[in-house]
Amino acid sequence: MCGIVGYLGKKQAYPILIKGLKRLEYRGYDSSGVAIMNGSVKLFKKKGKVKELENFVGNSDISGTIGIGHTRWATHGEPEDNNAHPHYSGNKRLVMIHNGIIENYASIKSALIELGHTFESDTDTEVFVHLIEEIQEKENLSIEEAVRKALKQVVGAYAIVVIDRLEPNKLVAARKSSPLVVGIGEGEFFIASDATPIIDSTNKVVYLDDEQIAVLNLEEGLKIMDIQKTIVTPTVKELSLRLEEIEKGGYEHFMLKEIHDQPRTIKESMRGRMNEDEGWLKLGGFEDHKDKFLNADRIIFVACGTSWHAALIAEYTIEKLARIPVEVEYASEFRYRDPIITERDVVIAISQSGETADTLAALEIAREKGAFLFGIVNTVGSSISRFTDAGAYIHAGPEIGVASTKAFTGQVTLVTLLALSMAKANGNITEDYFKSSLVELASVPGKISEALKYEEYIEDLSKNINQVNNALYLGRGANFPVALEGALKLKEISYIHAEGYPAAEMKHGPIALIDENMPIIVIATNRSAKEKIISNIQEVKARKGIVIAIVPENEPEIAEIADYTIPIPVCDELVAPLISTIPLQLLSYYIAIQRGCNVDQPRNLAKSVTVE
Ligand code: M6R
Repeated sequence: MCGIVGYLGKKQAYPILIKGLKRLEYRGYDSSGVAIMNGSVKLFKKKGKVKELENFVGNSDISGTIGIGHTRWATHGEPEDNNAHPHYSGNKRLVMIHNGIIENYASIKSALIELGHTFESDTDTEVFVHLIEEIQEKENLSIEEAVRKALKQVVGAYAIVVIDRLEPNKLVAARKSSPLVVGIGEGEFFIASDATPIIDSTNKVVYLDDEQIAVLNLEEGLKIMDIQKTIVTPTVKELSLRLEEIEKGGYEHFMLKEIHDQPRTIKESMRGRMNEDEGWLKLGGFEDHKDKFLNADRIIFVACGTSWHAALIAEYTIEKLARIPVEVEYASEFRYRDPIITERDVVIAISQSGETADTLAALEIAREKGAFLFGIVNTVGSSISRFTDAGAYIHAGPEIGVASTKAFTGQVTLVTLLALSMAKANGNITEDYFKSSLVELASVPGKISEALKYEEYIEDLSKNINQVNNALYLGRGANFPVALEGALKLKEISYIHAEGYPAAEMKHGPIALIDENMPIIVIATNRSAKEKIISNIQEVKARKGIVIAIVPENEPEIAEIADYTIPIPVCDELVAPLISTIPLQLLSYYIAIQRGCNVDQPRNLAKSVTVE
């Protein structure tokens, strides 16, 4: 959603804020702004990327050692200068940045208008800061107390940071359903939506919990209280994030770096959890709660977007190996359809960010109904990882490109480990199958490196299809979710309309779309269904579609009928989704680049969707 950064210390705030905003830009990039306190408040904001803001600030005097910055993904109000953050209160005493949505802003706004407030923007944030001002003025309160009282009146999600001109040397922040982390340096404080703007300065952080208010004060230190005014002792954590992880490392784009990072990140997902030579697998979160899984009536996955595709792969794998019923739900639907959940269900959330509002809300419902909650999450310390009863981190490291790549293959690795753990524990697979599966899994990083060697070929191939308006992705079995993921990647970054379908469903409708301008990407790696896939390809060719088939190396039969084949190393069907995803990621990347699209920051998207 939006990115928030704040600084309070002895250094000049502006360069710290700008650097932080650039690192947070993946969270939103339609406008940005900064406010610096130096006796008076200097506020600059501009539609467009952070670069536009920098140009706008130019050589203006923006000195000061306390400040806040924001990069926005529009919810209320179009991306325009006036809607960009920070926002002033009516009396210009307060200035605030906000990530989230205030659902009852309209009624608060009407009440404030009655009281004589006027507004310069269309945002819920401006209403929020006027509300804080109204309470502060009326009751003559400190800024933290006014914030606390205002929080009791707002409904929705927020991460806010406020400066009060009359209480310099202080930043007040609060969160609910939107992340905030405080960085504690030597005589300085940072506050941000995630740790990326902080890591060059300190590795000591405090993650705020929902409905907590943090007061950062250079003289008095860090004070945290909850919305009921109970003082909370901050738990200081040490960051393990490294600077290299959030830099492009010589690649043109984060997405390309993250695609190439996958042999390493998949190894990280497996590290310490299995050993193919010794034949063991221990997934901590599962081992500690084995009974919950083995006695579950159902395993229900809740997730969104790419993470939902990983959950669909889990459905195929867990049901096949462990014979435990699995359901996969869009978190956004699950939360509103009064689902039947019991104490004998295990609900697993999959999320890269660990902050997706719909997924969190789905978990809240599942908790109310008594289910056991498990998280498969990438971001350490995120809301979902803290909310669930147990879980397993993906360990893919920060994913900055908005289109998910390495997090997806990390999620698929984790669900495969989970499926094998369950199947081994309930005796549903043989020891031989178990051990050979570990060997297959261990070979995945090497096979992904092999698959990446076709990059140049894929780049060339993309030149032949980069002007199409539509594309169809087909797959059978666990390759169907891979097809969905391939289509989503293409849509997200190249703006080509694409759909994923189970290959056999094509004849029930989508076949009508096929003509000589339509590329059909067939994920044809399932040995067990090879003949059927060949028939599907023949059906496409008969209608003059352009077939691009992802095939195992040395697959002459499909190569003969397809227009193009992209080989991947021969592998077991259990791990095939992990490897066949790689050419699809590269294909989307190169098509998008050739169309001149911004692959790391596609239009209208945000990396982490912390609002409904
Ligand atoms: O952080 P999460 O995994 O919960 O995010 C879920 C989706 O918003 C996310 O996967 C989205 O679909 C990505 N843009 C996919 O590339």
